[in-house]
Amino acid sequence: MAKLRVMLTGATGYIAGQLLPAFRERYDLRLIDSRVENGAGQAVSGVELFDLLSASAADLKGIFAGIDVVVHAAYHRPGGPDPQSQYDGERRNIDMMQRVYQTALDQGVRRVVAASTNQAAKWYEQPYFAGLRDRVSPEDYPRPDNFYGWAKAAYESLGFLYACGSLGRKLEVIQLRIVVPREIDANNFADLPRHRYVRELAGYISERDLQQLFCKSIETPQIDDEHGVPFHIFYGVSNNARTFWSITNARRVIDYQPQDDSEIRFAADIARLMSR
Ligand SMILES: NC(=O)c1ccc[n+]([C@@H]2O[C@H](COP(=O)([O-])OP(=O)(O)OC[C@H]3O[C@@H](n4cnc5c(N)ncnc54)[C@H](O)[C@@H]3O)[C@@H](O)[C@H]2O)c1
Repeated sequence: MAKLRVMLTGATGYIAGQLLPAFRERYDLRLIDSRVENGAGQAVSGVELFDLLSASAADLKGIFAGIDVVVHAAYHRPGGPDPQSQYDGERRNIDMMQRVYQTALDQGVRRVVAASTNQAAKWYEQPYFAGLRDRVSPEDYPRPDNFYGWAKAAYESLGFLYACGSLGRKLEVIQLRIVVPREIDANNFADLPRHRYVRELAGYISERDLQQLFCKSIETPQIDDEHGVPFHIFYGVSNNARTFWSITNARRVIDYQPQDDSEIRFAADIARLMSR
């Protein structure tokens, strides 16, 4: 069977670096980024220099031609910490996401899988840690408490619009709310309130689980919901004993079966830190 033709945006970024080993084995890849070296200054093989924000519509259409699935992991970092810079910077990310959706729709791309973040609903961590809420589900109304999360919530509602068919064709859209895609160094939490460490354990996703989540989001043939709309938001966490972000819909729709659990992965650190 022919390999799926997958385009990865932000191909020299951190998340792409975790995905590429699996993607290179499975897909006929097109890699694009506005830089060709990763954060460590190493060239990433096969990356085409392309700026999704400044490219003309014609050039954009050209690179989307013949693609089956776009994985959008490009991210523009806002210029400063003040609210106006954050807002202006994140609006650029929404513009970039919209260009990806619209060009994918125009060029016959079947599906867009985007890297999102739990920050789209970050505020819910407050009632959770106050003992006033047990679980956060992807269907809970998004409640961001920062501009970064607000922009991701905007990716999601815009994605539904493109998926529901009102623009002529249903573009399949999956948004993956990744939480903690890195190994957790307990030393960084030794002097912090304990719930800060627990939160990381709850949100951990191992590299192989992240790869599985993206690959199943790309490959699962049928993702229509009960109303026939091919749109989903999945939390990106491993099978963590302490998690409070629900992945029941990812298990059901794409058969996500995470293999790792932060409780086991970091057992020695947990025993040391939590008994203090
Ligand atoms: N890293 C994390 O811990 C984490 C956690 C949750 C979610 N995410 C999400 O995953 C996505 C990727 O994050 P990351 O950590 O890999 O970021 P990153 O900064 O490491 O990578 C983003 C890449 O996008 C590229 N880019 C920026 N503007 C571009 C443009 N106009 N055209 C083309 N490429 C452009 C950058 O050059 C960079 O290589 C983001 O949306 C982020 O919110 C990341």
